Parts: sequence; C-alpha cells; structure tokens
Amino acid sequence: MHFTFYLLVTLLGVGTTASATCFTTAGPASFKACCPTPQSSGKGTISGVVFKYTCGQFFNGGESPISASSVKECAEECQKTPHCNSASWSAKQKCSLLGEKYPAPMKVGSWLTLQKTAEEPDPEQDCKELVDAAKREAESKCTTEKDRLQREGETQCRTEKDTALTNANTQCQKDKDTALTNANAQCQKDKDAALANANSQCAAEKDKLRAEADTDAQQAQSQCTTEKDQLRQQADTVRTQCQSEKDTALTNSNSQCTTEKDQLRQQLADAARQRDTERDGLQKQLKDAQDKAGASGGGITDSASAQDSACINNSWNSLCSGSCGHDTFTVGGVEFKRKCNVSTRDGREEQWYDRSSVMDCVRECAGIKACLGVGWIASQGVKGHCHAHMTVSGRLRTTPSRGHPLNEHHLIYVPTRASVW
Ligand SMILES: *[C@@H]1O[C@H](CO)[C@@H](O)[C@H](O)[C@H]1NC(C)=O
Ligand SMILES: *[C@@H]1O[C@H](CO)[C@@H](O)[C@H](O)[C@H]1NC(C)=O
Repeated sequence: MHFTFYLLVTLLGVGTTASATCFTTAGPASFKACCPTPQSSGKGTISGVVFKYTCGQFFNGGESPISASSVKECAEECQKTPHCNSASWSAKQKCSLLGEKYPAPMKVGSWLTLQKTAEEPDPEQDCKELVDAAKREAESKCTTEKDRLQREGETQCRTEKDTALTNANTQCQKDKDTALTNANAQCQKDKDAALANANSQCAAEKDKLRAEADTDAQQAQSQCTTEKDQLRQQADTVRTQCQSEKDTALTNSNSQCTTEKDQLRQQLADAARQRDTERDGLQKQLKDAQDKAGASGGGITDSASAQDSACINNSWNSLCSGSCGHDTFTVGGVEFKRKCNVSTRDGREEQWYDRSSVMDCVRECAGIKACLGVGWIASQGVKGHCHAHMTVSGRLRTTPSRGHPLNEHHLIYVPTRASVW
C-alpha cells in the first residue's frame, strides 16, 4: 500500500515527495522542512502512529490552539490525546486539535494539517529519519565543537600571539637597546679616533701653515725693510732738501730781520738821543730855574720824605724793604706815590740803565710828561737798571707779585698823571 501510494504520487506527478526532515526538524523551521513548496505533503511517524501532513491548509472548528514549537510537537500532542484524530499547525507555533470528524480543509498558506492514518510505520523510512536526525545532531554537535575549538584556538592563538608579541617587543627593545649601546660606544670610539686623526692632521697642517707663514713673514719683513730703507732714503733726501730750503729761508729772513732790527735800533737810538737832548735841555732849564729860585730862596725843593736817608740810602732795597716809612714823595716839583710788591702793565716800558738810585729814575720821570711812573727790581736796580712806564692810555694796571724780596717788583708813580688800579 505504501509502495502503491508512492508509485501513485510519482506516476501522477501530484504534490511533491515527502520530506525526510519534516518530523525531525525542531522549532518553526520545521514548517519549511515539511513544506519546501506550498503544495508539499508527506508522512511522519510518532510512537508507531503514522501521520499524514498536507501543506497550505487548515481545519476550521478545531479546539483552542495550544502551543507547539514544531510539527512533531503538534503531532505528539495529537498522538497522546485519545480523542484526537487530526490537527492544524502554524509556523507561528500554534497547534489546534480536532476529533474523529473534521471538515473539509480551508486553504491557508501558513498552516499545514495533520491526519492520523492506520498505516503500519515504514521501518526503513523511520530508520532513515533517525539516522538523518542522528547525523544532523552529530553534524551540529561537531559544528558546535568545531566552533568551540576554533574559538578556543583563536583565543589561545591570540593569547599566544599577544605573549609572543610582548616577548618579541621586549626582546626587540632589548636588542635595540643593546644595539644602540653598542652603536653609541662604537660611534664614540669612531668619533674619538676621527678626532684624534683630525687633531693630528690639523696640527700637521697648522705646523705647515706656520712654516709657510714664517717664510712669508720673513719675505714680507725683508720686503718691508727694503721698502722702509727706500722710504727712509727718500725721506732723508726730502729732509735734506727741506733743511737746505729752510736754512736758506732762515738766513734770508734773519738777515732781513737783522737789517730791520738794526734800522729799528738806529731809529730808537736817534729818538733816544733826541729825547736825551731835549731832556738835558729841560733839566738844564729846570736846574737854572731851581738855581735861580734857590738863589732867590723860593725854589722847588724835594719833600722831606724824598730826602730821608732811610729811604734814599741804597734806595733799590730800602724803599720797599720796610726801612722807609713814607708813601708819598715830591721830587722835581712832582708828587709820586709808592706801591711796593706789584708788577705793572698797560704802559709802554722803557729800560733805563746806569742810574745811581730809584730817586735818580724818579727825578728823570718827573721831567717827562709822558712818564706815569718808575718800576724796579732790587737785584737789577743795584746794577743801575730801572724802567719807566710811558703812557699809552693814562692808566696803569698792577697785580700783586710775591717773589724773593730781591726779585720783587715795585712801582713809584705820579697820581696826577696816571690812574692806577
Ligand atoms: C747815609 O749815607 C750818608 C753818606 O754816605 C751817611 O752819612 C749816613 O750816615 C747814611 N745814613 C744811614 C741811615 O745809613
Ligand atoms: C714787600 O714784601 C716784602 C716780603 O716779600 C716785605 O718784607 C715788605 O715789607 C713789603 N713791603 C711793603 C712796603 O709792604
């Protein structure tokens, strides 16, 4: 009968062949296992009861659906339940049982129907299903095992890799450090060697340069000496020429100067002579007048101070050394004032020689209207030398003079002729 059914199905080409995995696939996936096409149908055995299943249909009016995770679970539920003769199962894991009588099925794509048959189970088919199930289980177990092993292997591998990597890194760092240390040491050695070579090379080159420089310096020195000698000779020539020119110029200038000086001296001598003549004439007139006056008893007489021997004896010294107690002297009718220890400027100086005393010079000055006063220095005076201050502007300027008493400057002047300050 079983054979016939299969033959029939095959001959008619109706539906599809039964699925070997419909009752052995767990969970909702069992719907797809049972119904590879919407019209699939087949058989499965639960505890010696053969169930027929048909895809894409549903029995209306069944009991309230109960939960069944797979086709097999729904079939088992029906097999255990005495009044159950058929059932509907949906891929949404609902199982609805029915009694002996069931209506004509409705077409619903997501359901399949189960019907108990009175057929004897096919041992071969059952065995095949069991074997397949065992095979699948074994396969799945194997896959799980393999996965586990793979994961473990991967973990182990990763750990080993990490360890190896860490070790390698550590070793690498160590090697690098060693290499660096070695390299540094070598580098230092090389540098030292290079430096030593360079130093010795440098020293050698410096010596060579120094030797060359010495030679150059000697050459330069000798060249310099030669040039200097030449220059010196040139300079000597120039200097000789210059000297000779200077000498000539000087000789010319000197002779000119001498001539001019002689002329000047001559002129001065002439002037002095003329002046002396005039003065002698004046003095003679004065003396005559004095004589005449003396004879008549009312002549010009010098003041007592001008006759005081304390001032007159050795007048070059006594007039200013402290022994003479007078400041005012009238000589030849002209009043003079003494100003000791001063040097005098702003007049035209005339040098008078071979006079016998300061009073001699003073008397002479009295007779010359241009004479503002007489100056002297004791050390020169004792040799008869005094100097007359002839007027330029009518003023004489004095400044204190502090020297050795014998070299001290003194002045005796005419207040009515000169403003002295
Ligand atoms: C001054 O000289 C005169 C004559 O040479 C002399 O008689 C007189 O004693 C002197 N007077 C003084 C103070 O030295
Ligand atoms: C002039 O100076 C001298 C010192 O150098 C002094 O002894 C003398 O008394 C002074 N003469 C007058 C008049 O001040």
